[in-house]
Amino acid sequence: MSPAIGATLNRVDGRFKVRGESRYSAEVSVPNLTHAVVVNAKIASGRITSIDTTEAERAEGVLAVFTHRNLNRVATVPRLLPSLAGLAAPGQTFFPMQDETIHYGGQPVAIVVADTIERADHAGTLIRIEYETRPPITLVDQAREQAYVPERIFGGLLPGHGSRGDVAKALAEAEVCVDATFRFAPNHHNPIEPGASTAVWDDVDRLTVYDSTQGPSAVQFTLAELLGLPPISIRVVSHAVGGSFGSKAMVWHHPALAALAARQVGRPVRLVLTREQMFTSCGHREEQEQRITIGAGADGRITALRHHKLSLTSPFDDWAEPSLQSAAVAYVNPNYEGIYHLVRGNTITPTFMRAPGEASGMFALECAMDELAERIGIDPLELRMRNYSDTDPESGKPWSSSGLRECFQRAAELFGWHDRDPRPGSRREGQWLIGSGLASALYPVTQPVNPQRARARLYNDGTAVIEAGVSEFGTGVFTAMTQVAADALGLPPERVRFVGGSSDLPNITAAVGSAGTSAVGSAVHLAACELRDQLIRRAVGDDHSPLHGSDPSRVEVRDGKMVLRDRPDVGETYADLMHRTMTPDVEVLGTWNPPPQDAGYGVHTFGAQMAEVAVDADLGVVRVRRMVGVFAPGRVLNRKTAHSQLMGGMLWGLGQALLEATRMDPRMGRWANASLADYLVPVNADAPDVVVDTVEMPDEKVNPIGIKGVGEIGVVGAAAAIANAVHHATGRRQYELPITLEKLL
Ligand code: MOS
Repeated sequence: MSPAIGATLNRVDGRFKVRGESRYSAEVSVPNLTHAVVVNAKIASGRITSIDTTEAERAEGVLAVFTHRNLNRVATVPRLLPSLAGLAAPGQTFFPMQDETIHYGGQPVAIVVADTIERADHAGTLIRIEYETRPPITLVDQAREQAYVPERIFGGLLPGHGSRGDVAKALAEAEVCVDATFRFAPNHHNPIEPGASTAVWDDVDRLTVYDSTQGPSAVQFTLAELLGLPPISIRVVSHAVGGSFGSKAMVWHHPALAALAARQVGRPVRLVLTREQMFTSCGHREEQEQRITIGAGADGRITALRHHKLSLTSPFDDWAEPSLQSAAVAYVNPNYEGIYHLVRGNTITPTFMRAPGEASGMFALECAMDELAERIGIDPLELRMRNYSDTDPESGKPWSSSGLRECFQRAAELFGWHDRDPRPGSRREGQWLIGSGLASALYPVTQPVNPQRARARLYNDGTAVIEAGVSEFGTGVFTAMTQVAADALGLPPERVRFVGGSSDLPNITAAVGSAGTSAVGSAVHLAACELRDQLIRRAVGDDHSPLHGSDPSRVEVRDGKMVLRDRPDVGETYADLMHRTMTPDVEVLGTWNPPPQDAGYGVHTFGAQMAEVAVDADLGVVRVRRMVGVFAPGRVLNRKTAHSQLMGGMLWGLGQALLEATRMDPRMGRWANASLADYLVPVNADAPDVVVDTVEMPDEKVNPIGIKGVGEIGVVGAAAAIANAVHHATGRRQYELPITLEKLL
């Protein structure tokens, strides 16, 4: 690979972003624009008995007020299918404002459209709504006895339970047994840019929606079904996205509500969710508890693992974030049982949130592993090594690549792990109890279900445009794609431009589950390679080319010039060939067919996390002092953006460990802290010394560019390393996240 891959290339969109020139979905300039404001249910369960919009309709600047009585119905609500399928991907199978029933707090009940957002907002306060209220269920504890085991979860993609061997027998016979139950507060994504849609009907059946999304094509297909239109009638554009973290992975109601309202008022409609609405409109990480039971021999070798999860889902969908996938395969374990239990409550359907599933599932496993190490009296790092599995314990197939051992070795060096005194409470600096902890990081390598496409076009001046329908939601994917294409074409990155952010471009699955860059990158790579090879074939077949008659496999491209590999003085540039043959441009569509899910290997991404904390002995305050994360994500396309992703993930883990919690008020069935002032996330003052490193192991079994993804793995294990460090500092195990100070008093 040329230096373009792996190099630190600054974000190609960085200049636009820092100069305020990026156009977000709520900033696109559209003539004749109107503004919509959604009014939300004040109750969490019941029905609307009366709704009076007279005063709102009379308010200044108001064009229309919609409720379930006059908003046009949606045609069909598509099945819940993760956006990975490349099909319609609604966040839930319930669509609001179709009747008077209220299923959850914050459910949309009215939309006001006015000439300014302020007037729409004001008119919304003039709507009078009466409800008949039923007591809501919003906490697991309120409905524990109604728990059921779903047949499938996650839009049907994953089974609700799984097992191998005989877990009950193995646990009964185990020499050592750790049994622990962990509780997790609900979490919200809180991207800086809220959900936002601008809907413009060009004609009665031609719709353009500017939408803040992780998957423009997913929005296109979802709107097509909701509105009863063919996909050709809908264009979804997402020029820039101000963060997402899973909140924009599935398609929620606001783009469809904006489109419905726009069609009825006959003018373009802009709908921007408020910060508070972000807590009830785009899903969240559900409240959950997980019980882990590990059986092991006296030498620490795991003989059995039981992993049960209980979580709250909506009245409509069997959603659980898949917390049992990585824990099931992290270590040798011949006897296994994993079961999801769900209780239905008055909530929107939960959704993907960064490191969906594994942020919680691996927390439970890795804290239990720390306890096992303590019980057996061995170093927690040694315990991981003793139980390392060369093969996927579920399928018995070898890993496509692993790197777990290398990651731990490197992390231990960077952290100074081996200098540690293992006794809890053994280190004190004045008021502060100091401790360190570690955890394995694992995250599944998710393959898209459908073929992925990208287009590559080379112009006769030797510049290239690469196109695919991905959006840039902060991962640096446009930059990485510039590098992948430059590498394959043999061009410097500054002569390549990547264009994404529209459903008119070749279809790419929504970027979820750390699979975004590998999906689009594989298609871009194949398109660019085929384009390069076409030009090489043309050159060797052309009498006038210095390469005439050469073996195409001996030709490579350097800086836009096709040359013989062993005689780089012989050759010609793309531009010369194209000018001579009167070719303005050449274009290729590349298609990547992802490997089947049952290929001959197990696929997972691995890493190692270490953390050092200081706990105030009197006040219980936990400060994270240092974090080290080393990951083996396959090939690294861009050191800077990849390390930034991983570091951001680790800081998410810090937030999960110590700060993040959305608090439910069960009397009202509403979130009590739905604001950035009350929902705590780490800020720079909380961010310790964070060291990120990667062990590069290109994995060409998973895809042609050899990458496994960096979006989620940085989160996984970070909170467990911190919780284990808190135990090491204080001698007190932590079974509930976040670890707020009262838990240490
Ligand atoms: Mo990502 S949280 O799987 O959208």
